[in-house]
Amino acid sequence: MKEHLASYPYEKPSLDYMQAHIESAVDAQQSNACTLHEAWAKVPAPLNATEIQQYQEEIRELLKQHNAVMVAHYYVEPELQDLALATGGMVGDSLEMAKFCKNHPADTLLVVGVRFMGETAKILSPQKTVLMPDLDATCSLDLGCPADEFKQFCDEHPDRTVVVYANTSAEVKAHADWVVTSSIAIEIVEHLHSQGKKIIWGPDRHLGQYIQDKTGADMLLWQGSCIVHNEFKGIELTHLKQQHPKAIVLVHPESPAEVVALADVVGSTSKLLNAAVQRPEQEFIVATDQGILHEMQKQAPHKKFFAAPTAGNGATCKSCAFCPWMAMNGLAACAKVLRDHSQEVQLDAALIEEARAPIQRMLDFSEAYKNYHQQHQQLGAGLAQFQQWLATQHEAKYSTL
Ligand code: 13P
Ligand code: SF4
Repeated sequence: MKEHLASYPYEKPSLDYMQAHIESAVDAQQSNACTLHEAWAKVPAPLNATEIQQYQEEIRELLKQHNAVMVAHYYVEPELQDLALATGGMVGDSLEMAKFCKNHPADTLLVVGVRFMGETAKILSPQKTVLMPDLDATCSLDLGCPADEFKQFCDEHPDRTVVVYANTSAEVKAHADWVVTSSIAIEIVEHLHSQGKKIIWGPDRHLGQYIQDKTGADMLLWQGSCIVHNEFKGIELTHLKQQHPKAIVLVHPESPAEVVALADVVGSTSKLLNAAVQRPEQEFIVATDQGILHEMQKQAPHKKFFAAPTAGNGATCKSCAFCPWMAMNGLAACAKVLRDHSQEVQLDAALIEEARAPIQRMLDFSEAYKNYHQQHQQLGAGLAQFQQWLATQHEAKYSTL
């Protein structure tokens, strides 16, 4: 453990606390977010082929009527992912979803994922109607990071830059200097570290530890975790690797360090998908929610994919690599909310204002980073060169990076 982590004074949000906290966090939130048990109970029963087709046709029609677009995460059911793509919407990781929602001209966004994704869409496009199949679909990271306690944590360390993961409430984002997703977190923290900044990171302790190991930044970590990725086990993964010696291992960085240590590729859901499609290997062990396997198999039909184990010796398998809140999304609910415009994301205007700046900062950084790399591919891609280039850019939005 790093020295500044060993001296980490903020003991309260330990993992046990977080687990015990879920029930009361749900009670405390006005929004009726679901506990784990409630989420599993709300997962819709599987539909037959005729029902799937009927709902897909109805949703297609309703999207047209409402000038709406469907934006889905890789973890939701295959028929939802396919419909989003077939109707001109998209499937992506959380950064791509945020960008798409902001830039798309539709009046209504149907965000099929978990609530922080719908809230991010609303914060970036307050003039749009943002609907979700079920607003109670939340995330253990969001639940494990109550805004008042996180604010207290930040207030105890006023000299630190506050960087929060997108998997948080709008209230937590409003306390942050930066919001990041797993696809841009390392680049942003590396950038801040090179400016001499010390960081408060929340809420995912595994992702925080991974970023710290990669960048060497001085980070105080909130002790939240994802109930899905937290279940992957190093020992079981080692056994599976022995059974499939030709397979390479793709790992989402919300997984424990012992699992990340066995990875050939670590990254956001989109990065893992790209690796599965573009790498020359034919076999892959995948440590993230199994929903991603649908698009992997679709884009690389001749390759073999194995879900990383969550069960086995010493494992508890609470999730079996399925996020219960993502699984709450279903075709019937999509049709219903488009029909009656229910389950609309509503956020206070002042909160939207406060939460927008740190998200926009991430989008501006991401845009600058991409522009730089498109222009300077042949010159190499070091952070120092990017920062020199950034200093020569006169756009006002880049001045706060
Ligand atoms: P991505 O941004 O990689 O899609 O991750 C979101 C998420 O919730 C992973 O559990
Ligand atoms: Fe949250 Fe984990 Fe579900 Fe992602 S998989 S939404 S981090 S609980």
